[in-house]
Parts: sequence; C-alpha cells; structure tokens
Amino acid sequence: MYVCVCKGITECNVEDLGCAGVTCPDKLAAALGIDDKETCCGRCLNHIADLAVIASRGHRRHPTSVQA
Ligand code: FES
Repeated sequence: MYVCVCKGITECNVEDLGCAGVTCPDKLAAALGIDDKETCCGRCLNHIADLAVIASRGHRRHPTSVQA
C-alpha cells in the first residue's frame, strides 16, 4: 500500500528502513526523498515515522523487499 502519493513510497519501503534502524523523521525524509518542500507536501511523514518505529520493533506488515 502506498503511504506517500508524492513520491510513490510504499509501506514496505518504510518498513525496510525501520528494520535497518532508521526511525528519525528527518532521516526518513532524507532517505525517502521527501525532504524537498517544492515537490513534496510532507503530510505522510508522521505516519511514515510511526510505521518505521513499529518495524524497528520487529513488527512488519509486509515481507522484506530485500532478497537474500
Ligand atoms: S504524501 Fe508524502 S510527501 Fe506528500
């Protein structure tokens, strides 16, 4: 499911970052490219940060997108 319509970011993209320990909203915004105020509205950032924290605690809704 898409969590950011401006950049086409999915829950899985965010969960991958959360599992890698990226949960700070500023770092998430930079990593996902939503720190550009001219092309991004920023409305999704709070939800993205919550998803990343949940994933960092080992709870994912989606399997990892990284293949072993
Ligand atoms: S919905 Fe994510 S930056 Fe606009």
